[in-house]
Amino acid sequence: MSNVIKLAPSILAADYRRLGEQVREAEAAGADYIHVDVMDGHFVPNISIGSVIVQAVRGVTALPLDVHLMIEEPERHIEAFARAGADILTVHPEASPHIHRVVEMIRRVGARPGVALNPGTPLSMIEDVLADVDLVLIMSVDPGFGGQEFIEEVLPKLRRLRRLLDDAGSAVEVEIDGGITAETAPRCVAAGARVLVAGTAVFKEKGSIAENMARLRGAISDDALA
Ligand code: DX5
Ligand code: ZN
Repeated sequence: MSNVIKLAPSILAADYRRLGEQVREAEAAGADYIHVDVMDGHFVPNISIGSVIVQAVRGVTALPLDVHLMIEEPERHIEAFARAGADILTVHPEASPHIHRVVEMIRRVGARPGVALNPGTPLSMIEDVLADVDLVLIMSVDPGFGGQEFIEEVLPKLRRLRRLLDDAGSAVEVEIDGGITAETAPRCVAAGARVLVAGTAVFKEKGSIAENMARLRGAISDDALA
């Protein structure tokens, strides 16, 4: 089981003075995706980074760039992020009423579409596009900031999503994002997550990036999960 779990370090928590170096370090330590949090100051209170940083990160790693758009009217920016090198583009239905059209647009520009749900948003918001996406991201904090505490109440939703996808024989990836640590990761995996996003636990813990990622991997190893 643990060998199918992907780790997606979120550069939101990286040291931006040495961003390239840190991304390379995460890649060398076995990261599966690089998670990029894009925030617009409207959909979420914070402003983070845009397509120029995606382009810069594209230049230093061959890993898939998992770009999480926490922005209103994502349709206005899909093309720019795809051009900058995003491999996965994940959008929030809470930020765009025409989610089906946005998902199609992401496919058309050659990226893999994902949909993301805030902790308070029900699964029904995305059920009708599940067949059209490659990834579902379940937020386990209210989006906007790194370093927040994991919201336990999202675990039942994660389990329901896992069941829904397994019953349909779907290969859609289930990603969990927010407050992932060596303590919360095993519970997320048990509930059905297959991609773990981690910012603080990878870039801000006291160990090196490699040590911090190894700690996460250890927490979800088959032995630890048994
Ligand atoms: C939150 C972002 C997350 C965040 C995770 O709005 O979507 O990806 O960077 O950070 P940690 O792991 O610190 O909770
Ligand atoms: Zn994110």
